[in-house]
Amino acid sequence: MPEPCPATPWPVEMQDLARVLIGAEELRERVCALGTQISGDYAGQDLLLVGVLRGVTIFIADLLRAITIPVTVDFIAISSYGPSLQTGGVVRLTKDLEEPIEGRHVLFVEDVIDTGLTLSYLLRTLRARGPASLRTCVLLDKRAHRLIDVDIAYHGFALHDEYVVGYGLDHRQRYRNLPVVGVLKPECY
Ligand code: IMP
Repeated sequence: MPEPCPATPWPVEMQDLARVLIGAEELRERVCALGTQISGDYAGQDLLLVGVLRGVTIFIADLLRAITIPVTVDFIAISSYGPSLQTGGVVRLTKDLEEPIEGRHVLFVEDVIDTGLTLSYLLRTLRARGPASLRTCVLLDKRAHRLIDVDIAYHGFALHDEYVVGYGLDHRQRYRNLPVVGVLKPECY
């Protein structure tokens, strides 16, 4: 077994947070519980996790390690044409999946759902490729802004309508390395 890492100091940008909404231990416990649940539900099946770069990286890395059945992983990357409210969630795929998903059990993993427009568009795109099943796992669920009903099989935490960073989520590509989910001080937006 590898030696455990020595305790890492907290990132300096923790000082930009006004509030921590979900702590590192709470994240760890919830992600472990999701992994256990998914492992039970997909036992004996060919499970493929599909994540959307880049916000999902930390969550999917932890979720993968909490899954105890055989599993593979693949990623897509998207570039949005603007706020999903204006585009209706239509995005451009800047990186497609490496693997075919036809006939496979796909679990689509997202960091955050807000209006639901982006997720709904991406699910339509994947469904057209004929997976055996297609379900969704979302870490943060902001229900207040939901414009379209998306069936979420697994979700981590419900959040109010606040822009959050950390645990993979960014503001202008920063703060992804914070080990917690939190709200920035107003002067940092
Ligand atoms: P939706 O189409 O409105 O559901 O938007 C979802 C997308 O908006 C997510 O995939 C994120 O990229 C982004 N997003 C929404 N809320 C947040 C947040 O609080 N922090 C970081 N990104 C967010």
